[in-house]
Amino acid sequence: MENNIQEIKTSTIKASPLGGGGGIHVFAPATVANVVCGFDVLGFAVNEPGDEVIMRVTGKPGITISKITGDDGRLPLDPAKNTVSVSVQHYLNSIGRADIGLNIELHKKMPIGSGLGSSSASTVAGLFAIKTLLGDDTDPSNLLPFAMKGEEMACGHGHADNVAPALFGGFVLVRSYEPLDIVRLPHPEGLYCAIVFPDVDVPTREARQIIRKNIQMKDAVTQWGNIAGLVSGLFMNDIDLIGRSMKDILVEPVRSMLIPDFYKMREMAMELGAISFGISGSGPSVFAFARDEDTANRITQRLQQHLTGISIGSNTYVSTINDKGPRVLG
Ligand code: HSE
Repeated sequence: MENNIQEIKTSTIKASPLGGGGGIHVFAPATVANVVCGFDVLGFAVNEPGDEVIMRVTGKPGITISKITGDDGRLPLDPAKNTVSVSVQHYLNSIGRADIGLNIELHKKMPIGSGLGSSSASTVAGLFAIKTLLGDDTDPSNLLPFAMKGEEMACGHGHADNVAPALFGGFVLVRSYEPLDIVRLPHPEGLYCAIVFPDVDVPTREARQIIRKNIQMKDAVTQWGNIAGLVSGLFMNDIDLIGRSMKDILVEPVRSMLIPDFYKMREMAMELGAISFGISGSGPSVFAFARDEDTANRITQRLQQHLTGISIGSNTYVSTINDKGPRVLG
């Protein structure tokens, strides 16, 4: 990574089109981290929801945040405390362009603390915006360490299983953290993801604190068999193998306690034809893979109906896998 960052210093700025008060509007997608069995190492991006950043060049060095919408006032406008501005500032410092002045508007289009990679989507949108404004055509993976800084700030741990798929799109494996080694994985065409966000608060920081710190060898064997099975299923287009591999005996038994009627919802989703069902990231969102859009819609409708019945509001999303990652909206 160090080498790549160095490369930006010498190559990017030649194109630097900043200075004319230009602006850009960028979308970055929500992500499903862990993909049930791959705690901290697997994730994929979806088409919706996602967050948007509008970034404008100002005449004065430093970053300001003029507006945040969709957060119910929960996110800081202070650029020293907001993950988007902090990540972008780190990036600018690293390429020797702390002279640049930026104003950011952040439009949250998904719930915070939902387990859908909310902070990652915002951070990746911000980093992609500045990269595009600068005409930086180096590999997007250069942005990853800055996005991970944002995660560290948001939840106390710089995992990459949300930021990497938000940045690259598709299915991603974090093969190693030290050194960082990201592998992009294929996936079957036409796989639908049904997501339900039950409106209960599960902060990632806390959801990380409650998981077991030590595991038994026999459990580790089960878990890595499932991870290898899932990755093989993705390569082989084998939906049944994908389905039977998406089992988690390490984290889900603990985190599922924070999600109302988790096992009941699993039963319902599987009865309706889901390929698999589990917690999205650290929860409380849950997701199911389905072979077609109708099945995915039936699953979200049924689970939402169930949650309403126990007085819990919810948001639902049905999406194919987003293979593009962030995109410029204007
Ligand atoms: N892998 C992370 C976790 C994702 O499960 O804590 C957080 O969304």
